[in-house]
Amino acid sequence: METERRAVITGIEAFLPDYILTNEELSTMVDTSDEWIMSRIGIKQRHILKEDGLGTSYMGAEAVKKLLKSTGTKPEEVDMLICATVSPDMLFPATANIICDKVGILNAWGYDINAGCSGFIFSFDTVRSFIELGRARKIVLVCGERMSGMVDYQDRSTCPIFGDGAVAMLIEPTTDLSLGFQDSIMHVDGIGRHYLYQTAGGSLYPPTQKTVAERLHYIHQEGQPVFKYAVSRMADVSVEMMDKHNLTPDDIAFLIPHQANLRIIDATGRRMGLPNEKILINIEKFGNIAGTSIPMVLWDFKDRFKKGDTMILSAFGAGFTWGSILYRWAY
Ligand code: UT7
Repeated sequence: METERRAVITGIEAFLPDYILTNEELSTMVDTSDEWIMSRIGIKQRHILKEDGLGTSYMGAEAVKKLLKSTGTKPEEVDMLICATVSPDMLFPATANIICDKVGILNAWGYDINAGCSGFIFSFDTVRSFIELGRARKIVLVCGERMSGMVDYQDRSTCPIFGDGAVAMLIEPTTDLSLGFQDSIMHVDGIGRHYLYQTAGGSLYPPTQKTVAERLHYIHQEGQPVFKYAVSRMADVSVEMMDKHNLTPDDIAFLIPHQANLRIIDATGRRMGLPNEKILINIEKFGNIAGTSIPMVLWDFKDRFKKGDTMILSAFGAGFTWGSILYRWAY
C-alpha cells in the first residue's frame, strides 16, 4: 500500500553540558596527545556532563523543553516520546518515561530504543512507521547520551572518543510526499558484540565487587576490527541507497554521517563521490555522542538547509548496527 503521508522533522533543539574536556586535559589523564587524537580520530574536544545526580534524562528533558517552546507545542499535544540511548538513567524505567515526567508530557506513550551509534537512524525509522500509519501526529524523538558515565578514563584507547549531549526533534506528518523520510536500509549483525560492549551491569553479569574491580562496567572496544567493519558497511549502505534511487553525487545536497572517526567519514564520502562541502562534520567539537551524533549535526548545520535538500543519513555502531536513510529537508 502506497503511504499517503511522510514523516518530517518540524523542529530540532539540542542541549550540551557546559564542561568541555579538551585533548590537552585528556593528555594529563592518560598517555596521549592532541596530535594523536586529531590525526587518528579528528576530535579536539567533547562536552561532558560532570554534575553528580544528573543523567541522560536531564539533558533530554532540557532539549525537549526548548523544543516545545520553539515549536509552540503544548505537552498535552504530544502522542509519543521515543528516546534513543545506550546510556539510560537506569536499566528501568525507560528514560523516555522519565523525560515525559520531567517536561509534563502526560497524554503520550513511548519507550527507549538501544541501537548503539545507529540509535537515531533506527529510532527515526520506527517513528516514521507510526506517522505513516496515521497512529501518531506529534512524536518527540529524543536522542541523548551520557557516555562519560561509561568511559574508562584510564583507557587511552577509548577515553578520547566519546562525548555527552542530547537532541530533541518534533516529527509530524506531511501530505507532500516529496518531503521528509523517503526510504531506509537497516541492518544488524551480532558478530559486533565481540568487539564493542559494556560487559557488566545487565542480567549476564550483575554488578559485584569483582565486576567493579575488573572494570567491567566500562565501554570496551577493539578499535581496529570495528574500524574495518565501519568503513566498509557505512560506505556500502550509503552507496546502496544512491543506487536504489538512481542518485548521482549532484542529486545529493548533504551526507550526514555518524561522527565516530574522521577517517570513516572521509572514506564514506569518497565512495559516494561527494565533494567535501557536501559532507557535514562536527566531530572536532563534540566527539562521538553515539546515536545522538547525526541529530547533533542536523541541529548544528540546520541554518544551511533549504526545503527539498536531499540528504543521506548514515550510521554504524555497536551490535553491529548500521544503515542509511534518504531524507528531504522539509522547511
Ligand atoms: O561509534 C561506534 C563505532 N565505533 C567506531 O567506529 C570506532 C572505530 N575505530 C576507530 O575509530 C579506531 O580504531 C580508533 C580511533 C579507536 C583507534 O585508532 P587506530 O588507528 O585503529 O589505532 P590502534 O588501536 O591500532 O592503535 C595504534 C597505536 C597503538 O600503539 P602500538 O601498539 O602501535 O605501539 C595504540 O596503543 O596507537 C596507540 N594508541 C594511542 N596512542 C596515543 C591507542 N590509543 C592511543 C591514544 N593516544 N589515545
